Amino acid sequence: MVVEALRDARVVVTGAGGGIGAALARRFAAEGARVAVNDLDADAARRTAAEIDAVAVPGDASDVVPAARTALGGSIDVFCANAGVGTGGGPEADDAAWELAWDVNVMSHVRAARALLPEWLDRGAGRFVSTVSAAGLLTMIGAAPYSVTKHGALAFAEWMSLTYRHRGIHVHAVCPQGVRTAMLAASGTAGDLVLAPDAIEPEDVADAVLDGIAAERFLILPHPQAAGYYAARAAEPERWLRGMNKVQRQYEEQLAARKEGGRA
Ligand SMILES: NC(=O)c1ccc[n+]([C@@H]2O[C@H](COP(=O)([O-])OP(=O)(O)OC[C@H]3O[C@@H](n4cnc5c(N)ncnc54)[C@H](O)[C@@H]3O)[C@@H](O)[C@H]2O)c1
Repeated sequence: MVVEALRDARVVVTGAGGGIGAALARRFAAEGARVAVNDLDADAARRTAAEIDAVAVPGDASDVVPAARTALGGSIDVFCANAGVGTGGGPEADDAAWELAWDVNVMSHVRAARALLPEWLDRGAGRFVSTVSAAGLLTMIGAAPYSVTKHGALAFAEWMSLTYRHRGIHVHAVCPQGVRTAMLAASGTAGDLVLAPDAIEPEDVADAVLDGIAAERFLILPHPQAAGYYAARAAEPERWLRGMNKVQRQYEEQLAARKEGGRA
C-alpha cells in the first residue's frame, strides 16, 4: 500500500476500458479502493471491471457522476478525469472534430467537477485527478485540437487547485509524454516521431499517479524530462518555438517519405 488514504476510498476512473485508465483502475483496486470503471465502450468498461472485481459504469464521462455515486454506495472520494480523444489536424479540422475534443478533453472535467463539488465542499474532502498530457504543458506536433484542449484541461485543473485547496479539495494534473496505448498506436507519423521513442507503459503512469498522490503534488510528470521542456518554454519562448519548428519540419519530411512509400 502506497497511500493509506486510498484503502476503501471510492474511486471513479473515466475512459478505463483500456490504456492509462485501466492501469489506474487496477492500481487503485490494488490499493484497496472501491473502483467504478467508466468508458464509452461498455464492453471494455465491463472487461476492466470484471478483472479487478470493480463495478462498471459505462457511458459518457461527462455525466457519469450520479450513476457512479450510486454504484459506489452514495459518495465519491476520488475522481479520475482520464477519458480523452487524440484529435489531430489544424484549423482545417472541421468544427465537429474541434467540438468533440473540447467536449471530452475539457468539458467532461468541468461537468464532473460541477457534479462533485457540492458533496466535496460540504464534506471538506475530495480528490480530482486530471489526465492531461505533456501536450497541455507544451504542444503536440500535428494536433492543434488536442494541444489546445489539453492546455484547457491543465488550466481548469490549476484553477480548481488554487480555488479549493484550503477547503480540502486535492487536485492533480497528470502530464505524460508518450504512453503505449491505443491512442499512441493511432497517432501516426507524429506519434512515431515525438512520442514513441520515449514511450512508457500505462502502469508507469499509474505508479507516478500514486507517488504524486502520496506526495500531494499537483503536477505529476511520469516523464521527468517534461519539467525541463516546460521550464525552457517559459524562460525562452523564441528558442523553444524554433526547436519545435525543427521537429515540425522533420515531421513534414517523414510524412512526405511515407506518402512516397505508400504509407499514411
Ligand atoms: N497515450 C499517450 O501517449 C498519452 C499521453 C498523454 C496523455 N494521454 C491521455 O491519457 C488519457 C487516456 O488515454 P489512453 O492513451 O489511455 O488512450 P486510450 O484510447 O487507450 O483510452 C481512452 C479511453 O477513453 C474512452 N473514451 C473516449 N471518449 C470517452 C467519453 N466521452 N466518455 C468515456 N470514455 C471515453 C475510450 O473508449 C478509451 O477506452 C487521455 O486523456 C489521453 O489524452 C495519453
